[in-house]
Amino acid sequence: MAGGRFPKTRMRRLRQNPWARRLTAEAHLTSDDLIWPIFLTENETRETIASMPGIERLTIEDAADAAVRAAELGIPVIALFPNTPSEKRDSEGSEALNPNNLVCRAIRAIKRGGAEIGILCDVALDPYTDHGHDGIMERGEILNDETIKILIAQALTQIEAGCDILAPSDMMDGRIGRIRRILEKEGHKNALIMSYAAKYASAFYGPFREAVGAKDLLKGDKRTYQMNPANSNEALREVAMDIEEGADMVMVKPGLPYLDVLRRVKEVFQMPTFAYQVSGEYAMLVAASQKGFLSHDEAMMESLLAFKRAGADGILTYFALEAAKLLQDS
Ligand code: PBG
Repeated sequence: MAGGRFPKTRMRRLRQNPWARRLTAEAHLTSDDLIWPIFLTENETRETIASMPGIERLTIEDAADAAVRAAELGIPVIALFPNTPSEKRDSEGSEALNPNNLVCRAIRAIKRGGAEIGILCDVALDPYTDHGHDGIMERGEILNDETIKILIAQALTQIEAGCDILAPSDMMDGRIGRIRRILEKEGHKNALIMSYAAKYASAFYGPFREAVGAKDLLKGDKRTYQMNPANSNEALREVAMDIEEGADMVMVKPGLPYLDVLRRVKEVFQMPTFAYQVSGEYAMLVAASQKGFLSHDEAMMESLLAFKRAGADGILTYFALEAAKLLQDS
């Protein structure tokens, strides 16, 4: 690569004013890059989430309004996460298969609202199990193949309610292939799958677990199915398998601490590749801003741009609405 020598080359020439910086910007963030995860409550009024200041669990009605607002701001996809009350949870996560569960009702309400926006739903049992794990558990073990049987039914339930993108976040082996097979068989050939392909066993999911009501239920940790944070070759194998099994898009999660993984995945596979800026990343940035240690908007926009620079096609972020508003005003 040609470097150039001072003073013929002065790198600062291209930084001297806003137009020169705009002209030579390599990465760009637009509202098209944003996927907005929202939390849902069964209750009549919206609820605050202590560890995620500024984020609330929305009622179904609020969610339908939120989807309209997001679509107006140019956000292409909204992701739905239910808080299931403990009386509806059981060891097998049966509520996941209820065609009238919170997520399915929210999907229908958003579709009725007519917003031009895609709906993404997780496929995993943790919002529905009484032990907070993503799969079914027997004597402390999370059962892979038995869990997949339920996940397939959950996937179909959500697609039949009108979900556009299934996002298996459970990390069971082989689930993408089995879900794709049933979708084809049942005539849902256009159902999209965004697999949480490289999902790490991360401490940064803490606030999310409060938001979906799994925090106090979760027994143990998820290290027997989510990935070891030490590994990135393993991420490539995970992604390769999910693509082979029928994923349309892949995701790396968490976000900023795993940009190296994101970059490798994008370079190797050239797939539509997404990053999830997770709840703990949101909480850190907001908490520091609230203390006056960081400038909220600048830190938020810089963190989002970093994903684009690293190669992401889009970002799941709790900042989506705020960021889209800023982008519109700028
Ligand atoms: C559920 C799921 C999790 C997240 C997305 N889907 C939590 C987990 O696996 O424990 C985390 C999202 C976030 O922290 O923002 N399988």
